[in-house]
Amino acid sequence: MLQAVDVPVIAAGGVADARGVEAALALGAAGVQVGTAYLLCPEATTRPAHRAALKDTDAPTMLTNLFSGGAARGIVNRLMRELGPMRAEAPEFPLASSALAPLRAWAEASGSGDFSPLWAGQNTLGCREISAAELTRELAPH
Ligand SMILES: Cc1cc2nc3c(=O)[nH]c(=O)nc-3n(C[C@H](O)[C@H](O)[C@H](O)COP(=O)(O)O)c2cc1C
Repeated sequence: MLQAVDVPVIAAGGVADARGVEAALALGAAGVQVGTAYLLCPEATTRPAHRAALKDTDAPTMLTNLFSGGAARGIVNRLMRELGPMRAEAPEFPLASSALAPLRAWAEASGSGDFSPLWAGQNTLGCREISAAELTRELAPH
């Protein structure tokens, strides 16, 4: 696919370890973007319920528009299960976020992530409780 464009390509999505980074570079990517793997780093502002969900290696993820009004991937929680993850009735981006804010705040006050966005990509296995610098050094080609 790289031949189809004449600009540098950055690989993104599901890359969570050094082998994934190496593979993307071997296939010709100019760089690799990693997001989800950093969510357990102490520098990340990830809340406790979100951290707990990320540590559950069996937790399924789905695209949902319930939290912001736009489609984004998160770990399935009570709101997504009970309403269905994609709803035409969700307020349009970014209004869904403020519509949900009181319920979310109420649940988070007791440590619950039932009504919070638990953002995560398709590969959460690279999430580690180490500093972002350390994780970056582990991901970088040696
Ligand atoms: C907390 C969080 C917030 C994100 N917010 C956005 C966003 O606002 N817009 C967007 O296009 N992608 C967003 N993403 C998805 C990133 O584009 C994605 O993490 C990146 O492509 C790397 O993929 P990976 O998370 O599988 O490593 C977000 C991801 C996370 C984990």
